[in-house]
Amino acid sequence: MKRDFIDLWNLDPEEAWYIVKRTKEIKKGKEDPGRVLEGKNLALIFTKPSTRTRVSFEVAINSLGGNSIFLQEKELQLSRGESAQDTARTLTKYIDGVIVRNHSHTWLEEFAKWSGFPVINALTNKSHPCQVLSDVFTLYERFGEDIKNLKIAYVGDGNNVCNTWLVAGGLFGLDLFVATPESFGPDSYYLQAGLDLSNYTGGNVYLTTNPVEAVRDADVVYTDVWLSMGDDSEDSKREALKDFQVNDKLLSHAKEGVVVMHCLPAKKGEEITPEVFERHSEFIFTQAENRLHTQKALLEFIYGHQ
Ligand code: CP
Repeated sequence: MKRDFIDLWNLDPEEAWYIVKRTKEIKKGKEDPGRVLEGKNLALIFTKPSTRTRVSFEVAINSLGGNSIFLQEKELQLSRGESAQDTARTLTKYIDGVIVRNHSHTWLEEFAKWSGFPVINALTNKSHPCQVLSDVFTLYERFGEDIKNLKIAYVGDGNNVCNTWLVAGGLFGLDLFVATPESFGPDSYYLQAGLDLSNYTGGNVYLTTNPVEAVRDADVVYTDVWLSMGDDSEDSKREALKDFQVNDKLLSHAKEGVVVMHCLPAKKGEEITPEVFERHSEFIFTQAENRLHTQKALLEFIYGHQ
């Protein structure tokens, strides 16, 4: 049966931890992931810009022996109204997998439903599972099994990355505090999924509108851009988020030695100050590097099961 990766809950906790631990082996070069994609063609359909996700997936596919085909929506009949259903049924005749970055999560679910190959979500308006899977690895690499004893704070916009962190908190059994403005909170469906998974894994997922409460005694502070691609609520959003900037004042409430994460690209001066960004840049760019290693482990997991 094909394995899609549309949301983090497509993995059970055991599988999710397996991929995180496998990523560590792959990164260390202890075990070669092998050429699990030998003879396979994977397409990337991207309707939005990408630096990290696109490049790390293409490099991962090529290093696992596969061939990557980058497709932009404007070059496909999708741009002229061809449906997700017909595009999926056509590509099923040629392709072994598709990695999609798209505005609409609903479109992606429809596309996956009609595809005969694994479909991987490279970001939608609702969810960014490859990013957060990799971020959990970055924390596991740094803190090992202590990751479950960390207080992790997500501060900022309740966007696709925030939604996915709520699920990750539950899936991995983490202690996660999310602070967003009331008017720009996460999707209740993802919050509920995180809470439900927490009941099973022993995690703690907590949502507040108070950034200081989330950051108080935190070991990790995570943020993301306030205005995601396609977001047109500019002025009201900046106003609502002004107290959620990751700056020295907010970080003064965190533990000494707090690590700051950002999935990039950053808008320095908005969600994070330039000073805080530069002080934590080594960790932030390790976070970016780890997209590659995690993508290899994810592809190995998906195609190793076929
Ligand atoms: N973080 C992230 O997904 O980066 P890109 O938009 O560059 O792919």
